Amino acid sequence: MKKVLLGLLLASVSTLFAADGAEIYKAKCLSCHGDKASKAALNKSQIIAGWDAEKIIASVNGYKNGEGGAMKGVMKPIASGLSDDDLKAVAATIASYK
Ligand code: HEC
Repeated sequence: MKKVLLGLLLASVSTLFAADGAEIYKAKCLSCHGDKASKAALNKSQIIAGWDAEKIIASVNGYKNGEGGAMKGVMKPIASGLSDDDLKAVAATIASYK
């Protein structure tokens, strides 16, 4: 019985600390990419709402590595500030915006 309770407790704690894509989006992306990723960031980016998660992850990892378009310098520090887990979570959130 004790073990079961401990398991439940641990499960709820890890949910609490799991990367929350919607929160990350609001804190780090919304100001440029707009509500539900519906805007061209700084009037330059493509609209990324509904891109699939793989494509978003590949694109953001590209910025980490110095790839991207004319405004890539804007995305590089943002991309570099995301952990792999944060990136997965926020990519899934953006993919869900249609
Ligand atoms: C300061 C404004 C700003 C913020 C904040 C920002 N972006 Fe961007 N983002 C841009 C700009 C500008 C571009 C276009 C860069 C280029 O020329 O490649 C871009 C491009 C992108 C692209 C590729 C789209 C394309 O046009 O190829 C993705 C994916 C992306 N951003 C995801 C994110 C995510 C995820 C976050 C939050 C973690 C974020 N961005 C936060 C400004 C921003």
